Amino acid sequence: MAKRRLPSGVFDYIDGGAEDERTLAANQAAFAAVGFRPRVLRGIAKIDVESTILGQSLAFPLILAPTGFTRIADPEGELAVARAAARAGLPYTLSTLGTRSIEEVRSVSDGRLWFQVYAWRDRRLVQEMIDRAAAARYEALVLTADTAVLGRRERDVRRGFSLPPAIGPRTILDGAVHPGWTWSFLRNEPIRFANVVGRGVGDGTTPVTLADYINTQFDPALSWDDVSWLRSVWNGAIVLKGVQTVDDAVLAADAGVDAIALSNHGGRQLDGAPAALSLVAPVADALGGAPEIICDGGVRRGSDIAKAVAAGATAAMAGRAYLYGLGAAGERGVDRVLDWFRADLARAMSLLGVGTVADLDRSLLDIPDANR
Ligand SMILES: Cc1cc2nc3c(=O)[nH]c(=O)nc-3n(C[C@H](O)[C@H](O)[C@H](O)COP(=O)(O)O)c2cc1C
Repeated sequence: MAKRRLPSGVFDYIDGGAEDERTLAANQAAFAAVGFRPRVLRGIAKIDVESTILGQSLAFPLILAPTGFTRIADPEGELAVARAAARAGLPYTLSTLGTRSIEEVRSVSDGRLWFQVYAWRDRRLVQEMIDRAAAARYEALVLTADTAVLGRRERDVRRGFSLPPAIGPRTILDGAVHPGWTWSFLRNEPIRFANVVGRGVGDGTTPVTLADYINTQFDPALSWDDVSWLRSVWNGAIVLKGVQTVDDAVLAADAGVDAIALSNHGGRQLDGAPAALSLVAPVADALGGAPEIICDGGVRRGSDIAKAVAAGATAAMAGRAYLYGLGAAGERGVDRVLDWFRADLARAMSLLGVGTVADLDRSLLDIPDANR
């Protein structure tokens, strides 16, 4: 439905990945490659999908991933997603490149909010955003470490796709055949990088390609020292997102982060990076319980959440799934996707013969040898 409703340039920005999209495909293929070993006759009458992460409860083990420029899918953008997440009892991560500000998102949600940070070259800007997130009662910072430069997303490169879309003959044509989206895009206030409006770093008022923006504004020399710096300026939890090897997971544990998100940015950064799910079991074995593990990338069904948790993750994280819902039907679309995830997970657990999230373990999985 999102593909039908959104202009193709916008849909491809959401749907696409880097280069040959091998890692994008691998994320989902990894879930397909893991089978279940369901148990029967276990007398499970009731299924409880509730769980905890970072010491607090969540309705079921799923976190909404940060996605920049969410208003491109629907004018309500981050506000719609934050409201839907709060209704569903799930944490929502606002992106640094959000199109609604830290404070606006808090004003519509009394739920759990996390804030994702990129390393701007101007660290004062990062510090300022961190202070704002603390004042607005965000509980965790998610430092994304896989974006030294922007991956080459060739669907966007071919189109010259910019944020916001520049108006030219091709976009006019694309817009004309998607009148619902175009009407709401034109009728609503312009889309901006809401967290940096007026900060002199470009707020998206004039069209810019994401590659140019990130490659000029973000610091490619991010290092473990920056994780220590973050610890010194932030009292809440720290989640390191973009960990892609067992070695780095161990370093992250040594650095004292509270959780790591095994993630290749949904296949949007380095093509050829490993599927997130394939890392869960080896990383869980190497870490032995702490920090907590989040499996991010390729999650499309509640049964995928069951697989990630059974392999050793505390929770799964999903980006495109809710963006498709948002693009298809706005806030109600996000509600629907989150309902599906919950119902799917409960059904999968019932059919697996498991009553609680804590009972999901590796004995229930048929994992390919390469990922054990
Ligand atoms: C349209 C889009 C925008 C994204 N923007 C960000 C971002 O601003 N910061 C970030 O850390 N990750 C970003 N991501 C990556 C997501 O947080 C997440 O890692 C990815 O979507 C997971 O894969 P999935 O889409 O298969 O669930 C973005 C992903 C998409 C699809």
